[in-house]
Amino acid sequence: MRSFINRSSPQEPAYSDITPEPVYQTRRDLIRSLAAGSAGVALTTWGLREAHAQSARPGQLAALASGASAVPGAMTMDKPTSYKDATTYNNFYEFGTDKSDPSKRAHTLITQPWTVEIEGLVKKPGRYGLEDLMKMSAMEERIYRMRCVEGWSMVIPWIGYSMAQLIQRVEPLPGAKFVEFITQADPKTMPGLRGGAIDWPYVEGLRMDEAMHPLTLLAFGMYGEVMPKQNGAPLRLVVPWKYGFKSGKSLVKIRFTDKQPVSSWEKAAPQEYGFYSNVNPLVDHPRWSQATERRIGEDGLLAKKRKTLMFNGYEAQVGQLYAGMDLKKFF
Ligand code: MTE
Repeated sequence: MRSFINRSSPQEPAYSDITPEPVYQTRRDLIRSLAAGSAGVALTTWGLREAHAQSARPGQLAALASGASAVPGAMTMDKPTSYKDATTYNNFYEFGTDKSDPSKRAHTLITQPWTVEIEGLVKKPGRYGLEDLMKMSAMEERIYRMRCVEGWSMVIPWIGYSMAQLIQRVEPLPGAKFVEFITQADPKTMPGLRGGAIDWPYVEGLRMDEAMHPLTLLAFGMYGEVMPKQNGAPLRLVVPWKYGFKSGKSLVKIRFTDKQPVSSWEKAAPQEYGFYSNVNPLVDHPRWSQATERRIGEDGLLAKKRKTLMFNGYEAQVGQLYAGMDLKKFF
């Protein structure tokens, strides 16, 4: 496709330490509702969402909250992107290639009922309902930087649990070396499928150890509410140390396999998009540099670009997964 074609460290204070009480209370209610399986709840008003987005400021210490993640690296101190930007500037090609298309068109996506098929080299294959998936593990909040391959980035408070929790529950067989993530492709509700930018469905994949890394998130919500459709409702992957396109939206199938999956972007333009797609300022995209990024919301005339960090700033947590690999070759 030619359209991409045409400081996180364990020393950072937890997000829960710096969240005002009403915001944190709302989030806790949401997590409780999610845990109880009531999909479709929307507990927050627009104002409160914005408050949520704006509340994470370094140095603003408040009472410790439950529901925030203890996973190292899961709570960046970077200021969250506004809810408005995070829900109106999207990549979701099933709804069109313009950044504003998903927020205008994704209302047609039908998210209930929803099932995810687990198949391949796994002891407990089957069709799992959304409610069952939501209850499979306790949800928590994670604030991740997201770096898009196109050179912009955001900071998003997600709600979900580590993909590892689901993987352990379905018991992959010893031969399973990779996990393939297949997303919804419904021509009736997804107008972008008519424009053949890539082969549908949108497919992504991870090595088993990447999928099992605690930072790899199965996300059901963001900003304290259930996932907006344009962001990949009702559930999506979030892999914060890889370019955003590795994080498939609206998952319908998870397949365990012994062969490295071919992701949609790799298939469309293999010289431009590798399987690994780790954020790496030292490996340029063939048509542009990856050394810097524009943080959405910081785009005034005087706003400086940020330096892109190795593994998007998650090197301390994930660097060892790639020890000894030539990351120019395995880009
Ligand atoms: N998942 C599907 N199914 N279709 C897509 O087009 N775009 C990817 C990823 N997941 C995409 C997808 C890209 S390029 C990015 S940068 C992120 O989703 C954007 O997620 P966001 O819109 O929630 O910020």
